[in-house]
Amino acid sequence: MRKIPPLLLINIGQLLTLRSTSDGPRRGASLSELGIIQDAAVLCLGGKIVSVGTTKDALRDPWLKKNRKKIIEVDCRGRVVLPGFVDSHTHPVFMQPRLVDFEKRIAGANYEEIAEAGGGIRSSIDGVRKASKAALTDKVRAVLADLARHGTTTVEAKSGYGLNLESELKSLEAIRAAARGWPGTVVPTFLGAHVVPPEYRGRSQEYVDLVCNEMMPDVAKRKLAQFVDVFCDRGAFSAGDATHIFAAAEEHGLAIRAHLGQLSETRLGALLRYRPASLDHMDYVNDADLPMLAQSDTVATLVPGANYFLGLARYPDARRLIESGVAVALATDYNPGSSPTLSIPMAMSLACTHMKMSPAEAIAAATINGAWALRMADRKGSVEAGKDADLAMFDFTDYREIPYWFGANRCVMTIMNGVPSGHFSS
Ligand code: NIG
Ligand code: FE
Repeated sequence: MRKIPPLLLINIGQLLTLRSTSDGPRRGASLSELGIIQDAAVLCLGGKIVSVGTTKDALRDPWLKKNRKKIIEVDCRGRVVLPGFVDSHTHPVFMQPRLVDFEKRIAGANYEEIAEAGGGIRSSIDGVRKASKAALTDKVRAVLADLARHGTTTVEAKSGYGLNLESELKSLEAIRAAARGWPGTVVPTFLGAHVVPPEYRGRSQEYVDLVCNEMMPDVAKRKLAQFVDVFCDRGAFSAGDATHIFAAAEEHGLAIRAHLGQLSETRLGALLRYRPASLDHMDYVNDADLPMLAQSDTVATLVPGANYFLGLARYPDARRLIESGVAVALATDYNPGSSPTLSIPMAMSLACTHMKMSPAEAIAAATINGAWALRMADRKGSVEAGKDADLAMFDFTDYREIPYWFGANRCVMTIMNGVPSGHFSS
């Protein structure tokens, strides 16, 4: 066990606490409530947040006065501190970028045409199948380090480019091995149903059976994943396949989430019965499904990095979702095909400029609602006593600068479960 030193952050210009205002994920107006404290301080002990308040009050505390010498003190010099980002949707287990697809798309091909021509998700399978577990682990490890540099302290990580028993297990083991050496929190997801691999072409039902009856039991037995995901869309899996996969996940005690509505509309009724933690993308959602979604605890996770990178004019209609009372989260969807970015600030910037979310809404969506999307809001997503000490510091004096200064990383310090990883000297 790593020894975690006591840590005190003082002179925080703006501390965005995201402290809870009500039970459940943020919806509607509550998505804008950041719970800001100025001239703030945060004390962390044993990897947990123990007190949050003003610097003045913190420095008057008798316990602190007595123990100050034993505590690592960080003078934040008026900067912005907020909960570490919760990136609730990434695909980090792949070997190569897809540069040929990138060029084809620039020349006019779309996502589905590229997939038809043998590009897309299927073109990452070979690399993963041939790679050693150690090589995949190194890739994931590098991603985790980079995420931390950008302010992310909790990340969901999917398999999904192995697409046979051996390589899906290998991918999830790589996630587990990389996570062990990272002070942040990794939530593994089994995405065996990403696409039908080439050897099952025309036999998708058999592949779904393989996912449910052979892969999933092994994944569950080895405790390699917390969630099961399925890409439910045109060209991937049907809503019928998705419910089949959800039912199998339920049987194995795994929680569920899905890729939905990226390319086409799928009605939500049958899926919501399984209470997925999150439905992701949601570019296409039927109006009639909004009330049911708003009444559920299922989060709609928007990933505008994919719309940006695919060069789409259309983005998910965040305003319609928020105004309907749907709980909305933001994630990067880091992957080699549609969203090769691991920057939550970039996703936030896109959410503001292209989806008309306010900076405050974008921050809540990428912190506390990301935590809800992973069913971890009891530990993550806000700066409150009792929660894990996950924090990010940005070299700004106003939080609205985070999505404003797009394209450059201004995160200067990340604290993960109480462990500071600094590119910051005070
Ligand atoms: O979320 N839509 C399915 N999965 C990814 C794309 C993955 C890939 O192209 O490798 C997504 O956009
Ligand atoms: Fe994805």
